[in-house]
Amino acid sequence: MKSIPCLRLLFFLSLAVSAFAGDRQVKIGFAQTGAESAWRTANTNSMKGEAAKRGFDLKFADGQGKQENQIRAIRSFVAQRVDVIVLAPIVETGWDPVLREARRAGIPVILTDRTIQTADESLYACFIGSDFYEEGRMAADWLARKVNGQGAIVELQGTPGSAPANERRRAFADAIAKHPGLKIIDSQSGDFRRAGGKEVMEAFLKKHGRAIRIVYAHNDDMALGAAQAIEEAGLKPGTDIILVSIDAIREAVQAVVDGRLNCTVECNPLFGPKVYDIIGPLIRKEPVPKKSYNKDELFDATNAAAVIAQREY
Ligand code: AHR
Repeated sequence: MKSIPCLRLLFFLSLAVSAFAGDRQVKIGFAQTGAESAWRTANTNSMKGEAAKRGFDLKFADGQGKQENQIRAIRSFVAQRVDVIVLAPIVETGWDPVLREARRAGIPVILTDRTIQTADESLYACFIGSDFYEEGRMAADWLARKVNGQGAIVELQGTPGSAPANERRRAFADAIAKHPGLKIIDSQSGDFRRAGGKEVMEAFLKKHGRAIRIVYAHNDDMALGAAQAIEEAGLKPGTDIILVSIDAIREAVQAVVDGRLNCTVECNPLFGPKVYDIIGPLIRKEPVPKKSYNKDELFDATNAAAVIAQREY
């Protein structure tokens, strides 16, 4: 009985120790992409909440959907001499010069959520996030089984040039290539936003009408926007048009329970704890795993109702 308060004290002491580098509070700069989706809000909350719990001094910069804002934020973190920089890169390319500046200042960079394309992998210490290719593959394989390998698909892409849009698009195309009856008849970006998904879907419905059998959305917000457009066109999302998307935010899992959405593949945004577990080893210059992927699940009519009460985001 007595050991429980003792264990608690030890736990809080260990957090307090990890929040300090020598006698100084650990300073972390986090360059977030923006606030485009419910997924992003959950990710920001996880990063901020866990930093507060652990006593880190977190400098948070909202990139507002622009790479140049994120680059400016990284430069300001370097000027403020933070201990570690965490970057969720909005797009995959164009990071080498600013990452070289961080390296020259001796500040390690953790990539979270999205990967980058670089010829020099030593420009970042490690990556923590989901396997976007695997998510796209899971969505396509589920779809092929659901519709028996037949149907005209419209695709709602994420932010152009971003790792999730590139990988989810590539994986889905690779997987449906095995099913000659599945064809993407149109594909456009809704920028991972609900309003974007709705707007693009309205245009698709005007152009293709009842030829559309399936919507593949690179995230739930766009799928929910598309569902609204389908309803406003007098059709039943989930029945007249099959919708498959990615993220598994609570609202989307609820939409699966309600039959408005058919499937959502999880992309877990709650990796604040995983990111901060790496801070201590990085500051002590200990080796850390270069890439660490979250394990994601898939929710459809067979299991959504059973998990909805426990969805944390
Ligand atoms: O990078 C992860 C993606 O970005 C999520 O799927 C999407 O919702 C977000 O905005």
